[in-house]
Amino acid sequence: MRRKNVEPWRQQRKWFSRGYPIAVAGLFVICILTFVTHYNHPGLTSLPRQVIRQAPSIKQSTNTLNLTEEILSVGSISRQLGDQMTLAKSYVVMAKEYNNLEFAWALSVQIRTCQDLLSHSATRGYLLNQQEAEPVMEKLALLLYQAKEQHFDSATMIMRLKARIQGLEEKINSATSQTTTFGQLAAEAVPKGLYCLGSRLTMEWATDPDLRRRVTKQNHSPKLTDNSLYHFCIFSDNVLATSVVVNSTVSNAMNPERHVFHIVTDKVNFGAMQAWLGMNDYKGATVEVKDIDSFKWLNASYVPVMKQLQDAETQSYYFKGTEDPKSAVKFRNPKYLSMLNHLRFYIPEVYPALSKVVFLDDDIVVQKDLSELFSLNLNGNVNGAVETCLETFHRYHKYLNFSHPKIKANFDPDACGWAFGMNVFDLIAWRKANVTKRYHYWQEQNVDRTLWKLGTLPPGLLTFYGLTEPLAREWHILGLGYDPNVDPQAIESGAVVHYNGNMKPWLKLAISSYKPLWEKYVPYFHPFMQQCNVH
Ligand SMILES: *[C@@H]1O[C@H](CO)[C@@H](O)[C@H](O)[C@H]1NC(C)=O
Ligand SMILES: *[C@@H]1O[C@H](CO)[C@@H](O)[C@H](O)[C@H]1NC(C)=O
Ligand SMILES: *[C@@H]1O[C@H](CO)[C@@H](O)[C@H](O)[C@H]1NC(C)=O
Ligand SMILES: *[C@@H]1O[C@H](CO)[C@@H](O)[C@H](O)[C@H]1NC(C)=O
Ligand SMILES: *[C@@H]1O[C@H](CO)[C@@H](O)[C@H](O)[C@H]1NC(C)=O
Repeated sequence: MRRKNVEPWRQQRKWFSRGYPIAVAGLFVICILTFVTHYNHPGLTSLPRQVIRQAPSIKQSTNTLNLTEEILSVGSISRQLGDQMTLAKSYVVMAKEYNNLEFAWALSVQIRTCQDLLSHSATRGYLLNQQEAEPVMEKLALLLYQAKEQHFDSATMIMRLKARIQGLEEKINSATSQTTTFGQLAAEAVPKGLYCLGSRLTMEWATDPDLRRRVTKQNHSPKLTDNSLYHFCIFSDNVLATSVVVNSTVSNAMNPERHVFHIVTDKVNFGAMQAWLGMNDYKGATVEVKDIDSFKWLNASYVPVMKQLQDAETQSYYFKGTEDPKSAVKFRNPKYLSMLNHLRFYIPEVYPALSKVVFLDDDIVVQKDLSELFSLNLNGNVNGAVETCLETFHRYHKYLNFSHPKIKANFDPDACGWAFGMNVFDLIAWRKANVTKRYHYWQEQNVDRTLWKLGTLPPGLLTFYGLTEPLAREWHILGLGYDPNVDPQAIESGAVVHYNGNMKPWLKLAISSYKPLWEKYVPYFHPFMQQCNVH
């Protein structure tokens, strides 16, 4: 098995959710594309003319209007109108979702007027001027202002942008995209089909009281706190990926009805996640879904990562652009800070009644019965994990700054690294050793980011130092998200295979030889999947 230098892998997942500036840049590109398509669209040129006010015939210059130039020019009125229109369209979708039909209608009317104005300008062959555009722009700006003032939260907005950017990505060659910043973007973006599935499910959740009743009942099942059962936790914002983890686990389990899955997701995906897991049958396993925003104790006064995120200096570090785009992607990646990722350090607090859990990442597939993990002897340790140091470079010195006196004094640079993704946690030992306190200590020491840069693996290595029990390698096979040469025998015999890296199995970028292992557990025949063209 060959490994490349691509860690820390798993933590590279959610930076986009805070990559607002990049999203805006993406939107900017989309605006231009949208325009080009609009202008090339034959249907639009035949719109009724009477809608448009007659413009003063300035610039009637011998039909030398160059639309490409006009759209690319920053000061161009068409361009400004287009930007506003694209934003307004996103708000229409959101307004509808929030059931504010009146507002959606008001926006649609202005978008329509705007389109008429633009298409008229295109057919008549001279540019829009300030005078004719101003009334439209003013009305639109007012609506956009109102939209911002309303409850349209930025998380929802970013979901839309993600979907749009993914649409763009499909147009470009995926081979080149892997090596660029854009490749990272593409890896983070939600593919159209999955995005559609999420929306469809959210709607289903809102409109099906029977489904909600069924799921709510399961949320009170005594099995959720029964320590004689097998408990798994998955923290994810990806409905289909979570479904594959649950489905593959129960499909290979000898006693699926003794399996209990504890899922935490974010506010945006909460309805969809509950709907999907509630409407499908997982062989009698129990499934519970929680919303991370409902944990009131998870706040800045308790959680150092949240405090650091609120800190102004940190914000500029993570959100500001930098000269070197490569370092921007690798280190200044806000998704590393996502709370869903850091929630793994609070498992005993999320599940106070449980004594042992298996933690699973959402980019894995289970291929064997996992119940044996619960009877493994961890020798008093807190964390059972597969080590990654068979190759020389996956040792502590690779992840941590050993020039720092605090690291040097407390850790062995040659200690073996291990992987998150499939971990057994003994929560009784965790509470006894105050492990969360240790995590807080190290996270607070790293406020100036000199101990490590970003991610959950380095603080994990510090937190669980001396408390980690190595598991047999077959439990957890790594590298399917970046390494085309993982040993096929290892994959075949692995209990859990992990798509760590950018080439996730639900993306076009996926390594094709590993994709079937994941797809095997996707219910493509489901009507929602077909409606959304997921294939
Ligand atoms: C329009 O402008 C662009 C950019 O300046 C140029 O590449 C293109 O050839 C022009 N097209 C026409 C028809 O003049
Ligand atoms: C923050 O969390 C702590 C405990 O984790 C709790 O005591 C406190 O009330 C919380 N503050 C808010 C504003 O919810
Ligand atoms: C854990 O914390 C409690 C209270 O803060 C303390 O009494 C106990 O000694 C600590 N245990 C360890 C192993 O540090
Ligand atoms: C490592 O720690 C030393 C000592 O605190 C510090 O001077 C140096 O900048 C750190 N290196 C990095 C890459 O942060
Ligand atoms: C679970 O996986 C099986 C294949 O092993 C597939 O037939 C089934 O449709 C999947 N069910 C769900 C709900 O994902």
